[in-house]
Amino acid sequence: MSSTNKTVVVGVTGGIAAYKSAELVSRLYKAGISVQVIMTENATRFITPLTLRTLSGNPVLTDAFQEDNRWRVQHIGIAEEADLLVIAPATANIIAKIAHGLADDLLSTVVLATRAPLLLVPAMNTNMFTNPVVQENLATLRKRGFHVLEPDEGELACGVSGKGRMPEVDVIFRRVWELLAPRTDFAGKTLLITSGPTQEDIDPVRYITNRSTGRMGLALAHQAMARGGKVILVTGPTNLPLPEGASIVRVRSAREMFERAKEYYPHCDIVIGAAAVADYRPRTYSEQKVKKSDDDLVIELTRNPDILGELGRDKRNRILVGFAAETGDLIANGEAKMKKKNLDLLVANDVTLDGAGFGVDTNIVTIISRKGEITSLPKMSKDDLARIILDKIAELF
Ligand code: C5P
Repeated sequence: MSSTNKTVVVGVTGGIAAYKSAELVSRLYKAGISVQVIMTENATRFITPLTLRTLSGNPVLTDAFQEDNRWRVQHIGIAEEADLLVIAPATANIIAKIAHGLADDLLSTVVLATRAPLLLVPAMNTNMFTNPVVQENLATLRKRGFHVLEPDEGELACGVSGKGRMPEVDVIFRRVWELLAPRTDFAGKTLLITSGPTQEDIDPVRYITNRSTGRMGLALAHQAMARGGKVILVTGPTNLPLPEGASIVRVRSAREMFERAKEYYPHCDIVIGAAAVADYRPRTYSEQKVKKSDDDLVIELTRNPDILGELGRDKRNRILVGFAAETGDLIANGEAKMKKKNLDLLVANDVTLDGAGFGVDTNIVTIISRKGEITSLPKMSKDDLARIILDKIAELF
């Protein structure tokens, strides 16, 4: 076992998933990380401190007033020693307490006292998780720079199915590892990312659009910045929070997206076309609202520019990455698209599969490289997929 000289404080709160924290603690300890477990009183009803003490090799702390001569002032000492705090599982209660600055037990006090990054791993019943107050608290914490790992969907301990399951320990461990040793492989690189849908106006009140939410483009932007990259995000309309620190260029139509992308193109090293660009727009825009009549209405459509395709004509030494939503013949169609648009990588997904494509948190894709390397990936979160796409891009530097 090699020592990393890193200290991770693992906070365990009182949810049924607390038993999984034993495996997390064991993984961290085996990776050479010094682990200090803090349990809330409720957590001790789900799993015994003795288990976590044995796996972490350190006394488990539960009480803010416990005698412990390792530190002069216990909560401050722990807070200063920590390189990272991870709370897994994080109940709705601890999330609310942190969001509002309460400090009525050891864990919440250490959270207030530390300057170390904090990773929250919410796990709870799906109705609790989707409750607006919990979501608002999480949004507040994200805004303040806390890291939040999205729960998985699936069968919950309470018998219902939905979002709220604690992610696999492996996923938590990888995130902890990334936060402890941030990667900087995109330092010095500028990425132009197109994201979201476009809206193609028919008249002042109507437009044509698609089901894209922008989730994939945003995941790529977040991760590229976390790895040291500079991001220019040209985004169609989206309701999702946009990454702080990125240069944000808001657009509506494909033509606007094309114009703005061209403007920034000379300044970038990498282009990722994650936008679901409308291929067609109404041939004419009606200045007046189109009146209804008893007849059918025919709207004539004309082609929009192929943004990536056009940029690919003057590629030089940039890396170009595209997406392809297909309903069959993934690889043949993908390879043809890659050639046509002069891409280095193509991320193709079969949008007919459950858990792939627009409006869902997950995707199932095959990544095709210019050299003909084909990587078929299982269903995974768009965050995990963004990480893999960036790994593939980094291989091309
Ligand atoms: O040709 P297709 O629409 O399947 O290609 C998808 C890829 O091309 C995506 O990366 C998308 O962002 C990009 N695209 C574009 N401009 C268009 C259509 C697609 O940049 N008009």
